[in-house]
Amino acid sequence: MKALVTGGTGYIGSHTCVELIQRGADVLIVDNLCNSSPKVLDRIEQITGMRPAFLQADIRDDEAMSAAFADFAPDVVLHFAALKAVGESTAKPLEYFDNNVGGSLALFRQMQAAGVRKLVYSSSATVYGDPSHCPIAETAPRSAHNPYGRSKLVTEDLIADLSLPGGPLQAAVLRYFNPVGAHPSGRIGEDPRGIPNNLMPFVTRVAVGRSTKLQVFGADYPTVDGTGVRDYIHVQDLARAHVDAIDFLDRTGSNLTVNLGTGRGHSVLEVVTAFEAASGRTIAWEIAPRRAGDVAQCYADPSLAHAMLGWRAEFDLARMCEDAWRWQRGNPDGYA
Ligand code: NAD
Ligand code: UFG
Repeated sequence: MKALVTGGTGYIGSHTCVELIQRGADVLIVDNLCNSSPKVLDRIEQITGMRPAFLQADIRDDEAMSAAFADFAPDVVLHFAALKAVGESTAKPLEYFDNNVGGSLALFRQMQAAGVRKLVYSSSATVYGDPSHCPIAETAPRSAHNPYGRSKLVTEDLIADLSLPGGPLQAAVLRYFNPVGAHPSGRIGEDPRGIPNNLMPFVTRVAVGRSTKLQVFGADYPTVDGTGVRDYIHVQDLARAHVDAIDFLDRTGSNLTVNLGTGRGHSVLEVVTAFEAASGRTIAWEIAPRRAGDVAQCYADPSLAHAMLGWRAEFDLARMCEDAWRWQRGNPDGYA
């Protein structure tokens, strides 16, 4: 199998490339490196013994992309490339729509021109907006509360229209909940630029002394201890689901939209406690005001992914923390 992976040097894409290579796929990564390092390629090679082919290009660069499709002739496209910072998307909405929606459209055009139908798309639990109840099933209403969320929602809708019978695509839309953790080798992991927006990378940076104190955004939510509850999912479990999704597309000829989560929610303070146990470090924290746009709780009903793919998350929060810590401890400055 030949897999063209957009955004493949990024956090989730790099872990998925390792899984693809280990399951025998030929991989071409297309990434403009706007949020990742080319050193990821060395690390993937160290883990797998194979260096994926790499094209540094923007997915909106039609000339580069059409050459890539012609030369590589992929069987499937895994589409991770996107900008993903919620706050930044509010400040730069056009940039987000251009990159995430425009980039996806440009990619789908290239796929159609090259006759490549199979697509695995990185969607997000963000499409559920402020969920009215948890666990969230795929049938729950969707809404967008910021340009990032809308870019994911609109792209889902484009894919739905393009993958109707007779349409150019056959698609697996994967709605990730909160991806955390790292490859167990400690060679690849999450390395956000600047101050991390997300909880786990912030916690790991406190543990290595790159940040002094975690701010816990809100302790007055109607949750187990007042702090926000999320469905953290190990990036290795996510990576495996992508390969399972390709098998599904091959096996059934059908489309698919599924949640990828564990089905369990954990509060911010539960994450801090689990990380302290895994790392042996103390994480300094203080209660801060709620962060605008945050919901009290969000966790998945992952049963459809199990029914359709035979997939189930294997790793628990303790393991997510252990692997995140191994990566951060071994690479205190990330890929720098
Ligand atoms: P990431 O930023 O680590 O990876 C995205 C990669 O895409 C980066 O390497 C970046 O350089 C590349 N990229 C961005 N725009 C591009 C363009 N126009 N052309 C070529 N390359 C481009 O992010 P990630 O966490 O690995 O996320 C991967 C996907 O999963 C994204 O689509 C994101 O929206 C989605 N997602 C992420 C999360 C999360 O919390 N990490 C949650 C749900 C969904
Ligand atoms: N949190 C803190 N302090 C921090 C960072 C986060 O207390 O420094 C809290 C948040 O308030 C929230 C929880 O930790 O309660 C998780 O926050 P994250 O920022 O890690 O994750 P979110 O659930 O807010 O958002 C993530 C992605 C979105 C995606 C969403 C659903 O960042 O892109 O999951 O998939 F849309």
